[in-house]
Amino acid sequence: MQKITIAIDGYSSTGKSTVAKQLADYLGYVYVDSGAMYRAVTLYAMQNGIISKNNFDIDKLKESLSSIHLKFKKESNWNKAHIFLNGKDVENEIRNLEVSEFVSPIATIHEVRVKLVAQQQQMGLEKGVVMDGRDIGTVVFPNAELKIFMNASAQERAQRRYKELLERGDAISFEDILKNIQERDHIDTTREDSPLRKAKDAIEIDNSEMNLEDQFHVVLQLAKDRIAGRI
Ligand code: CDP
Repeated sequence: MQKITIAIDGYSSTGKSTVAKQLADYLGYVYVDSGAMYRAVTLYAMQNGIISKNNFDIDKLKESLSSIHLKFKKESNWNKAHIFLNGKDVENEIRNLEVSEFVSPIATIHEVRVKLVAQQQQMGLEKGVVMDGRDIGTVVFPNAELKIFMNASAQERAQRRYKELLERGDAISFEDILKNIQERDHIDTTREDSPLRKAKDAIEIDNSEMNLEDQFHVVLQLAKDRIAGRI
């Protein structure tokens, strides 16, 4: 069967990564979480005095890029690939709220994007990939056969992320998460380089009122139709 490229973009905490992963598993495709790459660069920047509450040393970030090596690896007993930063598994660490607070400023930097987009395009060369992010349908894979743009209300998204972080045992408040989501939405949509936009040919799905199962079925049907050439 012909393999296609599937791009899933949208606002933060819209459930993109969940549905992208489900879809990739079902189709036997590779799933790539592009946000994890921006998060890993952010973690590096936090650990190396490049970004903190009162400091963002953009020149140092640019100089450091050649020392940042990212790789996805999967062990058979993990349900998804983990991201490795310079050989260390940082999959869990990159999900905390502190990384979330610094990631959008880091993702505005052109040189960061050039580096990560090149690596993402490399991973998609053979098709059979589902990638989620902010600029996948517009910049990384403008020729993707299927593009989905996910949205949901900010309240609903914050509620989902809050539940997720509580389950991990993070001590955080709902208000801080909502604020972080709104700030990231703002930075991601207004940045100069590759702002978050719905690609012209993307199909928009608002999943505020959808459960995970319904959402998966909607997206899977679209993928099947696209693969079979029905749409
Ligand atoms: O999972 P969540 O919605 O919190 O976000 P993510 O996919 O982990 O992405 C974290 C941040 O990385 C976003 O808020 C963007 O600032 C940036 N990002 C980006 O600029 N381009 C991408 N393709 C993916 C993420």
